[in-house]
Amino acid sequence: MDMQESLLQGKQYLLDTYSQVPVVFTRGKGCILSDIEGNDYLDFVGGIAVNALGYGDPGLMKALSDVLESGLLHCSNLYFNEQAIKAAKGICALAEMDRVFFCNSGAEANEAALKLARKFGHQRSPSRTGIITMVHSFHGRTYGAITATGQDKYHVNFDPLPQGFSYALFNDLESVKALVNENTCAIMVEPIQGEGGIIPADQEFLQGVKALCEEHDLLLIFDEVQCGMGRSGKPFAYQTYAVKPDILTLAKALSGGVPAGAMLTQGKANHVFTPGDHAATFGGNALAMAGLNEMVSRLGTTSLCKHVEDMGEYLRSKLEGLVKTYPTLCTSVRGKGLINGLVLTVPPRKVVDACFKQNLLVASAGYDVLRFVPPLIVSEQEIDKALVILDKALASLL
Ligand SMILES: Cc1ncc(COP(=O)(O)O)c(C=O)c1O
Repeated sequence: MDMQESLLQGKQYLLDTYSQVPVVFTRGKGCILSDIEGNDYLDFVGGIAVNALGYGDPGLMKALSDVLESGLLHCSNLYFNEQAIKAAKGICALAEMDRVFFCNSGAEANEAALKLARKFGHQRSPSRTGIITMVHSFHGRTYGAITATGQDKYHVNFDPLPQGFSYALFNDLESVKALVNENTCAIMVEPIQGEGGIIPADQEFLQGVKALCEEHDLLLIFDEVQCGMGRSGKPFAYQTYAVKPDILTLAKALSGGVPAGAMLTQGKANHVFTPGDHAATFGGNALAMAGLNEMVSRLGTTSLCKHVEDMGEYLRSKLEGLVKTYPTLCTSVRGKGLINGLVLTVPPRKVVDACFKQNLLVASAGYDVLRFVPPLIVSEQEIDKALVILDKALASLL
């Protein structure tokens, strides 16, 4: 099938929930995606922070093939499977947490966290059900997750929403304090807001929120679905702040591209759920867990995280150069490791399209940010190549 015919069929049969760029991909290698006609694209989207090891990584492919060969893709959580036990031990050690619940996506990991927080509250008092989240946050598309998401655009037309959520200003401790009361059970934060526009938390803000949680016996939930798994330059973004949550939620890059989510707990969050409280048929699926085991072993060696830190610094310095060259089009650079944003004065879609025409994939975040979340293995040469294209794309918009 050629590109046009494929696109026609995609548009006809896939439910219309995305504004998709008209390209059909069939193969990938490293940071390069190839379309159905054999054209190559340099990928700085990485499946939106999913393909941490790029495409066709030999270690990941071998780990997945070994599971395929074993024949055991899946067995129910009525039983244990070897891959899931190894993954549980590995991810808990990497994240310095105690226990983990496996599921399939970021929204599901956050649902698990919200339910656990409510049960934790109920154990203290039937009215302790309040959950505070942040304005501009993003936590996923299920009902609990959209309600936790502090952006009206995700709520419109979907009410009635679950009750008991309130929204504080990100990086404004006083606004969080103002919402804490005797009915609060948890505070949920992305250490680096992703969809909201790549906004890293301030150190003092996260420290202050942690102190509030300790003072009022609340659960602190960090959503690291986008900024976790090495993206910040440490295995987990919370480690760059040295502020540890009671609950950590993960997905996206967790299994290197195989769908998986996880909710990790420590301390007072460890024993809230008991059998029957929560479940996911596919949680701990052997194929997904093999991907996770490969990710854990790669992030466990410091060299990948160091590479992310170095490439992140290099990318940000280059982006700062663009801010100087095109002050009317871009105003600042934000981010950590390899989760970075270029703040624009023009609609990001214009730059996304101009880059696409030159075979560079980038995406937007928020309403004015161009987002860069390439595979963590991206090289300096690839960053240089992307920046040449981006420079031309910006020049074309003057
Ligand atoms: C911080 C954060 N949380 C949760 C989600 C939802 O993840 P998923 O799409 O896997 O449900 C996302 C997705 O972009 C995210 O960025």
